[in-house]
Amino acid sequence: MKTILVTGGAGYIGSHTTLELIKNGYDVVIFDNLEYGHAEIVEKLKTISKYDGKVIDFIKGDLKNPNDIDTIFNKHRKIDAVIHFAAYIQVEESVKNPQKYYENNVSGSMNLFSAMLKNEVKKIVFSSTAAVYGEPKDLNPIKEDCAKAPINPYGRSKLMVEQILQDYSRTFGIKSAILRYFNVAGANSDAIIGEWHEPETHLIPNILRAVNGKIFQLFGDDFETRDGTCVRDYVNVEDLANAHLLALKYLELEGISSDCFNIGTNNGNTVKEVFDACEKVLQRKIDRKICARRTGDPASLVACNEKAKNILKWTPQRSLEDSIRSAYKWQCGFLEKI
Ligand code: UFG
Repeated sequence: MKTILVTGGAGYIGSHTTLELIKNGYDVVIFDNLEYGHAEIVEKLKTISKYDGKVIDFIKGDLKNPNDIDTIFNKHRKIDAVIHFAAYIQVEESVKNPQKYYENNVSGSMNLFSAMLKNEVKKIVFSSTAAVYGEPKDLNPIKEDCAKAPINPYGRSKLMVEQILQDYSRTFGIKSAILRYFNVAGANSDAIIGEWHEPETHLIPNILRAVNGKIFQLFGDDFETRDGTCVRDYVNVEDLANAHLLALKYLELEGISSDCFNIGTNNGNTVKEVFDACEKVLQRKIDRKICARRTGDPASLVACNEKAKNILKWTPQRSLEDSIRSAYKWQCGFLEKI
């Protein structure tokens, strides 16, 4: 039986990945400071894990505090691999307060890697982002070897950690699978867990929140795209969780090298297309108004996912409509209970 340490396991992608792990026979140790993660989500996961005969331990702590990280490894002597999500993720905030991003995302990751080295844990799946590519011009769909030119501290902090992992792989033999996510969407299809960010900045939850009379703000319709709004590649969160499972399996293979993979669908949708799809799935009219562009939004980001398909054997299974449907189901229950 394998035990996986999931940092940031009380957050959106971390919790869906934890669920995928327990459904596939792993025990999980969640480490989260609950600044953005939610204790309620951990409790739900613990309940499910009991039905599945799996163990979830939750340790509240902060990667910036090495003593907190020692607590994990003192309590759990046999951790087979780490999946590292815990990070700040707001692009605009990173521009205003880069120190916060470098201290948490970079120094915090280094503390984690030091503890891994001390405790001889040599496998890690790292949560990275399309933001490492910056604003690629005419290169969509983007391949992994496309130039890395992040345009904000958030993207730079993720790229720095990628580079540290490459060096630690060469020198210390830590094997890493770096997953660069494009736009993650949707929720668990049974609406057990879902996307819960405060503040919410992402497109689909914001469109869905506008169903009950609020007006959805569409940021910019003057981009050089087919309808003037930004193109993004929306990957379903359960498909993404599955990519982490496959990345772990990849790391278990003999003789493999550390590697990085785009996790997206090869397809882009404009903001207007996503909006229309929401109206269609919900069979409701939603009010919107066109607003000024948001700072730093690239016109188009679409993943080439051939490498993940060929090496990890990962194929996205769920459509944009599936993501909208599950996100809405989660949101309806969520708004009732919270
Ligand atoms: N958008 C709106 N209105 C909203 C929210 C979003 O019009 O209320 C637009 C944005 O301007 C953008 C598109 O919808 O054009 C997608 O925006 P999201 O905030 O959902 O996603 P981003 O592409 O900005 O960000 C995602 C991840 C980040 C990551 C980035 C990489 O959420 O963590 O991709 O470029 F850094």
